[in-house]
Amino acid sequence: MSKITSSTLRTFKTEGKKFTALTAYDASFANAFDSEGVDVLLVGDSMGMVLQGHNDTLPVTVNDIAYHTRCVRRGVERALLIADMPFMSYATPEQAMINAATLMQAGASMVKVEGGHWLLESVKMLTERGIPVCAHLGLTPQSVHVFGGFKIQGRDADNAQRILDEAKALEAAGAQLLVVECIPAPLAKTITEALTIPVIGIGAGADTDGQILVMHDVLGISSGYIPRFSKNYLKQTGEIRSAVRAYIDEVAQGIFPAEEHTFS
Ligand code: KIV
Repeated sequence: MSKITSSTLRTFKTEGKKFTALTAYDASFANAFDSEGVDVLLVGDSMGMVLQGHNDTLPVTVNDIAYHTRCVRRGVERALLIADMPFMSYATPEQAMINAATLMQAGASMVKVEGGHWLLESVKMLTERGIPVCAHLGLTPQSVHVFGGFKIQGRDADNAQRILDEAKALEAAGAQLLVVECIPAPLAKTITEALTIPVIGIGAGADTDGQILVMHDVLGISSGYIPRFSKNYLKQTGEIRSAVRAYIDEVAQGIFPAEEHTFS
């Protein structure tokens, strides 16, 4: 079994092979997802909502992510493990470097940061110092209060152009992966075709190179609101490992996301 790296994901992109990602926060779920064939596991700051019960991701700390990264690392053999940098842990390049180092030492193989042009210097700095970066554009949840809620981004031409420009600039700065969240499917397609690095979508249509979902949504156990772009695979399969396999198969075959999960 060969380990998934950013070069594996690039090969998948070149070959047109769709790949899957899921969030994970502990060793047992991580091990189940990994052994069923999920390619990328993200210790997401979504833990603020799905584990800690907050209304947004802002209260999550570097220590929280580091603790859960250590747990997940013990369960993973094959998947690429990404750790989210939480709110205000990368507001300056120096903070980014110190906090990213903590997450890499906790077991991450890559860190994820939310934002565009203002992050270019940090992305370059981290990459040059041996820390691979996954960028995140569109509905970046740490900016929920700037957006005035969890709203679709990139709907008008100016914003769509800005997101596309930022995606290209982040790739040029050294980002090795990009997550695009809650943007119209045609914009996600344009970004995916414009970049050589793999693009992972969530609420971004079927044309990105990979898909990511929050595990609690896939298993239908998120408290309260379940996003429209997500799918409860446990409901249709009745068993956790089968649910994960169904998610992987549907992404590979282009069945998920369907029209009903997509913003146009
Ligand atoms: O924190 C998270 O889980 C994420 C994914 C939704 C992409 O950032």
